[in-house]
Amino acid sequence: MKINVIFAPLDVEELFFTKKTTVVIDVLRATTTIATAIQNGVREVIPVNTVAFAMKVSGDAFGGQTILGGERNTKMIEGFNLGNSPLEYTPEVVSGKSVILFTTNGSKAIVQAKYSENLVTCCFNNLSVIAQHLIKLDEDILILCAGRNSMFSMEDCVCAGALIEKITESKEEVSLSDGATASSLLYKSLGKNILKMLKETEHGKLLIENGFEKDLEYCAQIDSVNVVPSFSDNVLKNMEKKESE
Ligand code: MLT
Repeated sequence: MKINVIFAPLDVEELFFTKKTTVVIDVLRATTTIATAIQNGVREVIPVNTVAFAMKVSGDAFGGQTILGGERNTKMIEGFNLGNSPLEYTPEVVSGKSVILFTTNGSKAIVQAKYSENLVTCCFNNLSVIAQHLIKLDEDILILCAGRNSMFSMEDCVCAGALIEKITESKEEVSLSDGATASSLLYKSLGKNILKMLKETEHGKLLIENGFEKDLEYCAQIDSVNVVPSFSDNVLKNMEKKESE
């Protein structure tokens, strides 16, 4: 198994992902929100890459059971039902509903990787279950960090390193690209206190400034949810649910 890491989606062609097993990471906050929504019983999450498209596919398209969620510059978008705080995606709010999700970086990265053969999303909250899933799959892995405005994000890279650590703990013969080795080293250096690391990132500081400090505490939890958000037919659902359908 070979693991590679892309630090931001900048200039990566959609077709590059064809036949790949891709893991998208956007710790703050899209992939944490997706894991939470799925854990809390959402029917599906539909990631989109423009607000216009989000508006277009909402309305009565899913029998009125649709929620528009997401953010621009960390804040809720006018006309949307929810922002991008994972704490908003409670069972009472999302259970049985379809969530259309637009976010500045995370949902776009997922759409960009849509041609992947296998596409899952990861965050600290579902780290071990994703690692186990990938070990079972036993394919080469491409980790796509959503980054921030096409730039490197520390928190996504540290989470990539944590995932690599989990995989290499229980699997032999894993080869790492330079990007994967760098992620692993960064995790070893900053991963001892995830919350502290999140608070010191550019995005973490912006979230605190905008009143979302509690989100950082939530996003720092390791293995608090047990779902494998898996993308096919343009929607994300829990892998187990898909297999039993
Ligand atoms: C993104 O996709 O850029 C994020 O999830 C932003 C955020 O909600 O803070």
